[in-house]
Amino acid sequence: MYWIFGLISAALLLQHGEASSGRVVCYWGTWAIYRPGLGSYSINDIAVDLCTHVIYSFIGVNDESWDVLVLDQEYDIEQRGFKNFTDLKKHHPNVKFQVALGGWAEGGEKYSAMVAHKSRRDSFIKSAVRFMGEYGFDGFDLDWEYPGASDRGGKFSDKDVFLYFVQELRRAFDREGKGWEITMAVPVAKFRLDEGYHVPELCEILDAIHAMTYDLRGNWAGFADTHSPLYKRPHDQWAYEKLNVNDGLLLWVNYGCSPKKLIVGIPFYGRSFTLSKGNTNYNLGTYIDKEAGGGAPGPYTNATGMLAYYEICEVVDEKESSWTKKWDEGGMVPYAYKETQWVGYEDPRSVQIKMDFIKSRGYGGAMTWSIDTDDFQGLCGPKNVLLHILHANMKNYSVPEPTLTTTARPEWARPPSTQSADGEVTQSTTQKTTTTKRATTTKSRTTTTKRSTTKIPNFNEDPSENPNEIDYPKNCKGDFMPHPDCSKYYRCDHGKPTEFSCQDGLVYHTVSHICNWPQNADRDECRKEL
Ligand SMILES: *[C@@H]1O[C@H](CO)[C@@H](O)[C@H](O)[C@H]1NC(C)=O
Ligand SMILES: *[C@@H]1O[C@H](CO)[C@@H](O)[C@H](O)[C@H]1NC(C)=O
Ligand SMILES: *[C@@H]1O[C@H](CO)[C@@H](O)[C@H](O)[C@H]1NC(C)=O
Repeated sequence: MYWIFGLISAALLLQHGEASSGRVVCYWGTWAIYRPGLGSYSINDIAVDLCTHVIYSFIGVNDESWDVLVLDQEYDIEQRGFKNFTDLKKHHPNVKFQVALGGWAEGGEKYSAMVAHKSRRDSFIKSAVRFMGEYGFDGFDLDWEYPGASDRGGKFSDKDVFLYFVQELRRAFDREGKGWEITMAVPVAKFRLDEGYHVPELCEILDAIHAMTYDLRGNWAGFADTHSPLYKRPHDQWAYEKLNVNDGLLLWVNYGCSPKKLIVGIPFYGRSFTLSKGNTNYNLGTYIDKEAGGGAPGPYTNATGMLAYYEICEVVDEKESSWTKKWDEGGMVPYAYKETQWVGYEDPRSVQIKMDFIKSRGYGGAMTWSIDTDDFQGLCGPKNVLLHILHANMKNYSVPEPTLTTTARPEWARPPSTQSADGEVTQSTTQKTTTTKRATTTKSRTTTTKRSTTKIPNFNEDPSENPNEIDYPKNCKGDFMPHPDCSKYYRCDHGKPTEFSCQDGLVYHTVSHICNWPQNADRDECRKEL
């Protein structure tokens, strides 16, 4: 069952009030220290001044004692990995030093089991607070991949209890009064959002949302393709039509997340493939030998199916390279191939395009997974060439302040309870900028379930349909109805339409029922690029 957030009657309005500056979020996968030779990336390699946030990845969950699990006791503790990392703050007081919980390798089952019970959440949160204090971190990044994901050991009930967990963690951190941030790495596939994330509530209480707008294709998909395409390409079909950076972020916005909280993920690594024997078609979407598990391992990262940017540029960009480099026109990212090997990745040109995109859409900044796969040794040119582009673009960028002016969402569109199990109501961290009324009453699950099955008309249900062929019904069947004039819409009261207008400069979105920026419109005739 899906929560329908469609009835948020909200208007997004751009104000240029006090602006925050753009984030540059730098994830560091600490196992990069074990890469051989020039590939080894240690604390001293971190280009701290190019980042606003550096994230030490990862710690885990102990599913016996329900506390923080240190994943590399030897490096993290004995060799003082945690301590040396947060000590960087002494010379970089304006940079936040965070720790990430989870990651792909940790799986999802332990997390599902932890959030399921109040006593386990209490235990874990207490341990997290102690951990933060002991090692001097400034922020906690939640990387459970993913709540509610049945293919990752998750349960249906994860979605609600995960929200309680985040609310409880927020209160516990706020009580400490040290300004600790809470951020979260999130997927951008619609089914993942639907099954695991109460989007508006999470976005409101978290400091930033790191959209994992990469790994959108890979060996598992069964064909060769770039993995962080910015827009839809002609060959994208079915679920892949919306699985790109632009649409993934719009999904979060349309579900009710403020754009200023959304940080756009940019991979500093490629996804590689081994093509089928004898296949000389190197176009996007070409046939692969799926059994190979991906392209051949790189000399430093030594993993099948991925290559660090520095492993790619070293062979593709060298003079008289035997690799052929191409450009994905729609996705606006490069790919390269040689014999049976094929890799889709990011280079300085594609990264600059993504930075322009972030600024033109008013998102909160850029994030990368991960700084240890940038050309940090300068094998192909200047050191940290990709990270420098993030820094240069965010340095003078002020995130515009979108104000959500909303009428209260209908009761059934909220999670069953916005009150968490310990009885306290979470204080919004962004109450100043929104007029959304928070529910303080607990709704029963049965009521909620029954009412949410009310169908609202979706005039754009079939994505292959030409949005220009939208038909404007005579009768008001649901609660909202689009208007041929982009800036107007109807609200339906007992089948009678009443005309409403969006705030100046905004257009009505026929699926999310929100007045949104013209560049986010879902009707071609209403869209206007900046
Ligand atoms: C931490 O710093 C100490 C003192 O400089 C050094 O001996 C140690 O090797 C460092 N550990 C790590 C993991 O960087
Ligand atoms: C690469 O990984 C394989 C296992 O996947 C391992 O046997 C091999 O020793 C590794 N090579 C290097 C250079 O680390
Ligand atoms: C960025 O801002 C700084 C200080 O505000 C200023 O000195 C610099 O010229 C600006 N750079 C650009 C490229 O606008």
